[in-house]
Amino acid sequence: MIPKETVDKIFDSIKIEEVITDYLPDLKKRGTNYWACCPFHNEKTPSFSVSPTKGIYKCFGCGAGGNAVNFVMEIGSLSYPEALKELALKYNIEIKEKELTPEQIDKENKRDGIYLISSYANKFFQEQLWETEEGKIIGLSYFKQRGYSEETIKKFQLGFSPKQKDALSKQAIKNLYQKEFLEESGLSFFNERGCADRFKERVIFPIHNYSGKVLGFGGRALDPKNKAKYLNSPENPIYNKSKVLYGLYFAKLAIGRRDNCFIVEGYTDVISMYQAGVENVVSASGTALSTEQINLIGRLTKNITLLFDGDEAGLRASFKSIDLILREGMNVKVVMFPEGEDPDSYSKMLSQEDFINYLSENSKDFIQYKSELLNKNSKNDPAKRVKHIKDIARSISVIPDRLLRSEYCKVSSSLLDVSEQDLLREVSLFLQEKKKVKFIHSKTSQQNKIAAEIEKKPVKTNLLEVCEKEILRLLFNYGNEILEFEDEKINVSEYIMGELHNDNITFSNSFYKQIMNEYKQKILEKKMFNLNHFLNHENSEIQQLSISFVSKKHEISKKWEDIHHIFTGDETKNLELTIEKAVLSLKQAFIKNEIEQINKRISDEEDPSIIIITKLTKLNKALVIINKLLGRNFN
Ligand code: CTP
Ligand code: MN
Repeated sequence: MIPKETVDKIFDSIKIEEVITDYLPDLKKRGTNYWACCPFHNEKTPSFSVSPTKGIYKCFGCGAGGNAVNFVMEIGSLSYPEALKELALKYNIEIKEKELTPEQIDKENKRDGIYLISSYANKFFQEQLWETEEGKIIGLSYFKQRGYSEETIKKFQLGFSPKQKDALSKQAIKNLYQKEFLEESGLSFFNERGCADRFKERVIFPIHNYSGKVLGFGGRALDPKNKAKYLNSPENPIYNKSKVLYGLYFAKLAIGRRDNCFIVEGYTDVISMYQAGVENVVSASGTALSTEQINLIGRLTKNITLLFDGDEAGLRASFKSIDLILREGMNVKVVMFPEGEDPDSYSKMLSQEDFINYLSENSKDFIQYKSELLNKNSKNDPAKRVKHIKDIARSISVIPDRLLRSEYCKVSSSLLDVSEQDLLREVSLFLQEKKKVKFIHSKTSQQNKIAAEIEKKPVKTNLLEVCEKEILRLLFNYGNEILEFEDEKINVSEYIMGELHNDNITFSNSFYKQIMNEYKQKILEKKMFNLNHFLNHENSEIQQLSISFVSKKHEISKKWEDIHHIFTGDETKNLELTIEKAVLSLKQAFIKNEIEQINKRISDEEDPSIIIITKLTKLNKALVIINKLLGRNFN
């Protein structure tokens, strides 16, 4: 572990604009911030901003944001300590890792050792392929006969592992690589009688991470009698199947440029498509697509096209994992290939042009495809139809974007021959169910009942949450600023906290409430609000929200503002009014919410108690006052 003092020293030395310029030389200063085209998605006009004063970056196009360490982690696919080390190097800070426990040293060394041996093996396999007789005759000719050009073979660093059972292991040990790492990486097996290579007599497909480091290998048997056609590296401290996509290292640029990512079954499909000119292609390598993998793609594009060979069964089997993609807010299309063909074979059968045309002409929106497929299979069976309609509704319900959901309801309703309203209703049922589950999970069981009760009532919690969020935003932006009222001077955080405390208002949204509590606690500790604490928060949800609070999109037009004297951000002109208005709005929403809940309760009960009625009257009176205040001061 890197000692805390060193971490602090690194953070103190970091100038975020310097760090980012190393990766984005085009970063240009405009106003107080710096701007560039975002490296995490494809764009032509800059919406990626860097704030030197806050030490954060934020992209208004794709939403990426964080501090300098987050940036280095993202762009280099590095772990937190790896990114810190990189920054320490940049700023000439020595990292003394003396405080590491023996187990921690062991783990770090292990990772380094496995990286080293993997890179060594990758070179070894390629040398075998290109420079030995056996490799050329067996391996290279196999690849060529599969239709791969020399350029392709070199690009993907394909290799060959010879027939001799311990060729790699022996040579690695001769070159002083440690047995431990050979074994841990899965490249070699050791026993009393000696050692053996995992990939003996196979052609080799190295698997790279996002930045091009080799993490593991796939090996294809050449003897058709061999039962295991493919063997893969086992999971180990550097290779985690669900976090890697085969081909992503080569595809990442094209994915951004084409704003789409094709996902295929395996190594051979990736390479053949790439060679056929479709470079934006990756494979999940045999496993079902994981959320981590989807998010790796999500940094580059929001569009995924899945390619399926021939049978519907394969597609059906992946319905669940496709919902996973929809849930991440991505768009999914599918392309089916004719019976018996896969992307590998079909890209070879057609000319490059025809193949590319085939992909574009046959890619169908997933939801649409699913609707058609299910409809076809349940024409005259009402029970089945209902099941399928629900099934589609469930898929639509996982889509985070409301407008997109309703678009899909429109399309699917006509395909399924069901009314749009019915479908919308089904979707909203699923949505409610999901909300409830989420809500209940976040409460202790004792509170469950009450929580579920409240949840059932259609109160306008949204408006309230919006107001709560606005209060937090103001606290984050102006917490330490002084407000000058007629009779007193008070800073923003004290004022807001005081107002909420006096009226006994706590936040309804549990996430905001958590942040508010931490905010209060921090103020108690330090007297001042420390924005940095939140911008570098270890909880990434809190960090992201904080960043979005203090990132202002309109700074891009600062100059424009100056020239034309048009202010988009006039909230600071009269901060007293801004803050007062926000507090009153929150109170208004809070009271409205209470009133609605009480009204509900009254209508549910036969004989409402006098206490409730009194409370209601009081609330209504308070609401009138607040409405007046809001109307008088701010309209
Ligand atoms: N695959 C795998 N494990 C297997 C079979 C297949 O990982 N046991 C993956 C491989 O990545 C392969 C892809 O699925 O590239 C396609 O499978 P398949 O067509 O069976 O492999 P090919 O090597 O293309 O075999 P063939 O020459 O028989 O088409
Ligand atoms: Mn094949």
